[in-house]
Formats: sequence, structure tokens, C-alpha cells
Amino acid sequence: MITRPRRLRTTAAMRALVAETRVHPAQLVLPVFVAEGLDEPRPISSLPGVQQHSIASLVAQAQQAVDVGLKGIMLFGVPTPESKDAEGSIGWAPDGILNRGLSAVREAVGDDLVVMADTCLDEFTDHGHCGVLDERGRVDNDATLERYVELALSQAVAGAHVVGPSGMMDGQVAAIRLGLDAAGFEDTAILAYAAKYASAFYGPFREAVNSALQGDRRTYQQDPANRREGVREADLDEAEGADLVMVKPAGYYLDVLADVAARSQVPVAAYHVSGEYAMVCAAAERGWIDRDRAMAEAVTAIVRAGADIVLTYAAIELATSLGGAE
Ligand code: PBG
Repeated sequence: MITRPRRLRTTAAMRALVAETRVHPAQLVLPVFVAEGLDEPRPISSLPGVQQHSIASLVAQAQQAVDVGLKGIMLFGVPTPESKDAEGSIGWAPDGILNRGLSAVREAVGDDLVVMADTCLDEFTDHGHCGVLDERGRVDNDATLERYVELALSQAVAGAHVVGPSGMMDGQVAAIRLGLDAAGFEDTAILAYAAKYASAFYGPFREAVNSALQGDRRTYQQDPANRREGVREADLDEAEGADLVMVKPAGYYLDVLADVAARSQVPVAAYHVSGEYAMVCAAAERGWIDRDRAMAEAVTAIVRAGADIVLTYAAIELATSLGGAE
């Protein structure tokens, strides 16, 4: 007699019964881009199926997210080049594009979706860095924290349930928590981009936000070589009061994700980033892989590694194929 694990693979029902990992629409978050001055959504060539939205098309997209059973949406703002300055002040202007988008989405969906905001300066600065620069051109950590607090506060005022500091400044979670609490926003949660690596897989995102960046982010984002450091960053953010922590990118960092998930006391998110999504689209366009299966496999692997929540540009299509809202 030999042991036969294949017995548990004999039928689709059997495989479904014994599946160790299930991806549910409620754990998927859709990242979206809202752009200043658009009347119509504009396609992003390196992210097939993803657009820079007008306010109206953004609201429609948020409504669709509700309809298919998603529970979260993450907004990124895309101001015009003329609106950008060295500080990124359009980020916290109440009528800046991101804050306008947040208000419109929140008004439309109420509490049906968790409305999240990217809390970072790179979309808003004319140099494209995630923080303000000192006189030598380096990203100034502590001067940046003051702007992050302004940004987070303006996002909470605009209606964000969750702010997502993604700039990898040291102390950003603590600074934002103190600022929110002092202003009476004790219920606004913080999703910390805790372990965020300096990744080539953010390529298409730069097109999505019309990034002005010259150079790279290696003095603040993590070195892809470092696993233990990812755990350290997540621990620090949790200690500073993060309500959720994130590992990013997701698919190439499953070891870090598994480590963080094994010890985190708070829910763990992972970001299936633009390049991970775009590569599947590109190969599928050539007929080299099956888009739907590859997308589902990628997100299943991320959940299997320990993610409670996955941010993915494929959230709507995955939720739809999973059966939509219950
Ligand atoms: C920075 C930010 C980036 C992404 C999300 N937030 C870009 C970067 O750090 O260079 C990338 C997301 C993606 O590639 O999908 N605010």
C-alpha cells in the first residue's frame, strides 16, 4: 500500500473541499488613480485595463468595487505638472485632486468600502521624491514628517477611513498617529507601508502617476537583498501604532511576507504592484500565458504566504470570477 495524496485531487469538488487557501473578494483592495483636469478617463498604456480617472469615472469605479464585493479602495492623486512644487503642497490642499477624489468617493460609497489614501509626496512634488529635499538634495526625513502629518490630516478631513504612509520615512507612523489624534481623528486608521522595497516592479506606476522622478529611491526604500530588515520595519511600525502593516511588492517578497505574517499582531497586507500585474498582461497579450489563471495564481500565492489583504489592479476581475458579492 502506498500513500496517495492524489486521492484528494480527483474531482473539482474534492479539490475545493481541501483547498488550504481561499481568496475572497472582501480581502481585495483596488488601487485607483484620479487625475486633475480630466473629463474622460485616460488609459495607462503600461497597465492594461487601468485608467487615470476623472472624478466622475472614479466614483463609478468605486461603485463597481462595491457591487462586486470588494471592501477597500486605495486612491492615488495625479495633479497636473503646474500644480506640483518642491514641497508637494497640492497634496494637502483641500481642493487638491486626491482630496477631491476622496471626498467624492466617500460621499458615494459611505461606509460600504474602506476608503484609503496614499499618504506620500511623490505624486505631488516637482522632483518626484517621496519627501522634501535638504540643501544638498537629500530627502530630509524629519522635515518630511511634518508634511506627512498635514497630508494625513487633510485626507482624514476629506473622508479617508485609512491613511497609507508609503514614503518609508523613519517615524512616519508615530508622527501621523499623534497628528491625527491631536486633531480628533482617533478613528482614522493607519496602513503602514512597512516593508517597502526599492523595486523595479513599480515601473508602470510611474506612468500611472506621471512621475517626475529622476534618480531612484534607494536611500529610503529598502534594499531587495534584505529579508530580516523587512521584519524590523514591520515591527517598528506596529510599535508606532500602525493598525495594519504592508509588504510591497508582494510576489517577489513572499519570504518577507511570511515572516511578517508569522509575528504580526495586526492584519498584514501585501501589494501586488504595477509591474507584477503588467507582466502578466504583457505575456498574456502575446498568448504566452493564460491571464486569468496567472492573475489568480499570483494572488493565491500571496494569500498563501500570509497576506490577510491584497492590493491588486486585478481586484475587480478576480472578485467577479470569484462570484461577486454575497
Ligand atoms: C509611492 C508609491 C509607489 C507605489 C505605490 N506608492 C511608487 C514608488 O514607491 O516608487 C507603487 C505601486 C505600484 O507599482 O503599483 N507613493
